[in-house]
Amino acid sequence: MIASLASVRSAAVAVPLLLAGLTSAAESPFKVDSREDILKSAKTLAEDLMALYEGNKPGKIPGILPGPPSDFSGPYYWWQAGAFMSTYIDYYRLTGDDTYNQIVAEGLMWQTGPNYDYLPPNQTASIGNDDQCTWASAAIGAAEAGLPDVKGKPSWAEIAETALSTMAHPSRHDDTCDGGLRWQIPPSNLGYDYKNTISNACYLSLAARVAKFTGNETYADIAGDTWDWLVNVGFIDEENYRVYDGGHVQNNCTDVNKAQFSINSALLVQGAAYMFNQTSDKVWRDRLTKITDATLENFFPDDVAFELPCEGRRDACNIDMRAFKGITHRYLAAATELAPFLAEGVLPVLKKSTEAAVKTCTGGESGRECGFYWSEGKYVKPEAVGKVGPFNVGEQMNVLAAVEGLLVDPATGGPASPDGPTETNTGAGPNQTGPAGSGAGRFEVGVMTAMVVGLGALFVTA
Ligand SMILES: *[C@@H]1O[C@H](CO)[C@@H](O)[C@H](O)[C@H]1NC(C)=O
Ligand SMILES: *[C@@H]1O[C@H](CO)[C@@H](O)[C@H](O)[C@H]1NC(C)=O
Ligand SMILES: *[C@@H]1O[C@H](CO)[C@@H](O)[C@H](O)[C@H]1NC(C)=O
Ligand SMILES: *[C@@H]1O[C@H](CO)[C@@H](O)[C@H](O)[C@H]1NC(C)=O
Ligand SMILES: *[C@@H]1O[C@H](CO)[C@@H](O)[C@H](O)[C@H]1NC(C)=O
Repeated sequence: MIASLASVRSAAVAVPLLLAGLTSAAESPFKVDSREDILKSAKTLAEDLMALYEGNKPGKIPGILPGPPSDFSGPYYWWQAGAFMSTYIDYYRLTGDDTYNQIVAEGLMWQTGPNYDYLPPNQTASIGNDDQCTWASAAIGAAEAGLPDVKGKPSWAEIAETALSTMAHPSRHDDTCDGGLRWQIPPSNLGYDYKNTISNACYLSLAARVAKFTGNETYADIAGDTWDWLVNVGFIDEENYRVYDGGHVQNNCTDVNKAQFSINSALLVQGAAYMFNQTSDKVWRDRLTKITDATLENFFPDDVAFELPCEGRRDACNIDMRAFKGITHRYLAAATELAPFLAEGVLPVLKKSTEAAVKTCTGGESGRECGFYWSEGKYVKPEAVGKVGPFNVGEQMNVLAAVEGLLVDPATGGPASPDGPTETNTGAGPNQTGPAGSGAGRFEVGVMTAMVVGLGALFVTA
């Protein structure tokens, strides 16, 4: 399970931390000024992150990060390794560097489980729809990026579609709260009584991606129906496009936990971008514009990524939440390729946020480990969780994701381009902000954001 999304208990005041009065800050080795700098930084960051993975070592299980916490083998739940794989799939897609493809393919395939649906028996005790969906999203990403299929096994696209079909099965959709997926899959799991945004928004986005890849309208309908459900149940607030965490079935989901995590908002950006891309529908364009604006406004104060519900208090973001920024960066970057009209509003923010991110990479023995508090502009050692590390996968993954994301090129196409990876993506690079769009007014929801950032504490406890 993606731990604790449902268990944010204390109201936090999300006041952006002031820049500490630095004495002599070390200089980060990572530059992102030119395309060449970005490629070089991404390469080193990819090496550093991979050094934290053991799944390719003798005797280790392919596809998992040290964990789960429940058996004291490390701090990482299963889902985070799925996000890790996606980060390398995007790395391949955007840089053309296939160094890690073998490791990624091995991990992706190992974890599918016996039915090629990302329901591996080893994970049953804590498997949620969000976890299964995170892995299935890596599989469709692999298909989009042209990661070679494994001989004698189903293709990446088939695996993603199989997983999606299990999620679409009527047994996953009961009548409580008028539909929607629950958080957990097995009824015996803690959290089975919770219906939440991350499960449903990931499902929506996965369906939109599989729809685009296969052209099957059934999946496009799933995306549309799921958006409507999220609005009706009040998890997407149509007034301001804030996205809330979830609610309990025993209350017909009316006890909405108003914690706002960047990953939920970003998943909806991604889903809407894929739907807009394949339909050119103005309903999807409108949703996409508004959810993107709200995501930038809520989670990028001063244009630097900030994990709203927890970052204002030192060590309050748990090990899951410490990985959300990178995912948010990747989805926003990909959206500018799927919906180039977003580029003008989004890319300059991602650039500035990434510049802040790399400034934190001055830590550890290497002198280039990255921190989490990007708006503080300096390295802060990641909090240890339990006794066995590493503890900085999220921190490293975030910065790699942000840096590689600067390579998107809205002018030459993006995910699911039929020719596979954009290895020949030698366009104008990060300086290219795409065609001047008529859309993305960044300040449409600005007033609301000022409230969120200024006052914080707007969410209630579950
Ligand atoms: C981007 O712009 C900067 C400053 O304007 C310039 O120095 C750099 O060469 C440009 N990079 C690319 C890839 O065009
Ligand atoms: C399941 O977990 C066990 C115990 O950690 C491990 O030996 C086995 O390789 C795992 N199976 C798979 C398919 O990952
Ligand atoms: C589309 O997907 C649905 C659900 O998996 C399937 O039943 C249907 O046959 C598919 N349609 C086409 C045209 O492949
Ligand atoms: C439960 O909530 C939904 C909205 O999510 C509403 O349409 C439905 O009428 C409610 N059911 C009951 C029994 O209150
Ligand atoms: C859909 O995405 C492709 C890149 O994958 C892009 O070239 C195309 O312009 C997009 N379509 C729309 C309607 O924006």
